[in-house]
Amino acid sequence: MLEIVVCVSGGGTNLQAILDGIHKGTIANTKIKAVISNNKNAYALQRARENAIEEICISPRDFENRESFNKSFCETMRQLKPDLIVLAGFLVNIPKEMVEDFRGRIINIHPSLIPSFCGVGYYGLKVHEAALARGVKVSGATVHFVDEGTDTGPILLQKAVEVGEAVTPEALQRKIMEEAEWVILPQAIDEIAKGKILIGDNREE
Ligand code: GRF
Repeated sequence: MLEIVVCVSGGGTNLQAILDGIHKGTIANTKIKAVISNNKNAYALQRARENAIEEICISPRDFENRESFNKSFCETMRQLKPDLIVLAGFLVNIPKEMVEDFRGRIINIHPSLIPSFCGVGYYGLKVHEAALARGVKVSGATVHFVDEGTDTGPILLQKAVEVGEAVTPEALQRKIMEEAEWVILPQAIDEIAKGKILIGDNREE
C-alpha cells in the first residue's frame, strides 16, 4: 500500500481527482494518510473531511518566523512517515530539510509544460496570463519531482492542451485542470504505486 500525504492551499480539485481515482480503482493500492494545508479555509480541507481523512492545518502565519514553521512542518511530516508527498496546488516553499528527508519522494503538479512559464512567481493564474501573453498555441501541465529549486526537479509526466478558445487566464486554467492536471497527477501516483515509476534516493534519474 502506497501511503501518501497531500499538501493543498486552495479548492482541492487535484485532491478530488486523487480521491476519485482511489475510489474508482484507477489509482491502485494507495491510501491518503493526511491532507495538510497552510490555509484553514481551503475547500480542500472540506474534501478531506468528507472522506474521513486526517486534516492538518499548519501555516507560516502561526509561527514567529519561517524557521520555526519549517521545523514544525518537517516534524509533522516525519511523524506521518508517508511513502510519497504530493503537492497539489500547495503555495508554501518546501523546507530544504524536507527535500533532503524525502528526496525523490515529493511530487508536484505545475500548470504549464515545464520549462515554460515556471519558477519563482509563476503560480495560479499568473502561469496562464504569461502563456496567453506569449501567444502560445499549446500549453499543458507537468508532474515533476521536487528538489531544492522551484519547479526544477526531474519531470515525470506531461500532458499538452490546445489553447484554442480558452482566451482568458481563467478559461485556460480550467481547460488545463480538466484535460491535463486531473489526468496526469492521478496517473503519476498510480504508476508509482505499481512500481512503474521509481521513487526515493536510489531511483534512476
Ligand atoms: C492548480 O491549477 C495547480 O496546477 C496549481 O494550483 C492549482 C490548484 O488547484 N498548482 P486545486 O487546489 O487542486 O483545485
